Amino acid sequence: MMEYEIIDASTNESFTCREDEPLLSAMKRTHKGPIQYGCGGGGCGVCKIEVLSGEYNAFKNMSRAHVSEEERKNNIVLSCCIKPTSNLTIKKFSQN
Ligand code: FES
Repeated sequence: MMEYEIIDASTNESFTCREDEPLLSAMKRTHKGPIQYGCGGGGCGVCKIEVLSGEYNAFKNMSRAHVSEEERKNNIVLSCCIKPTSNLTIKKFSQN
């Protein structure tokens, strides 16, 4: 089982996420990362993050209500809907 290092560029903290683990679950497990709470099922949009580098698998469809086509192209994703396939650098999503 692979484990990847996830760096949160917002805080410069890092944590690990297994390849079979949704990123949001790893944030909850480690109490690190930009998001603490959310529905966990792609429905609320609060777990939105920006992936600055690295590869991931979007294992669950992200609702267009929460992630636009444009955002998706720019690696803005719902962290409950992705699993890492490499080390990642992420940061909290901000509108600016
Ligand atoms: S936690 Fe609600 S959409 Fe991800």
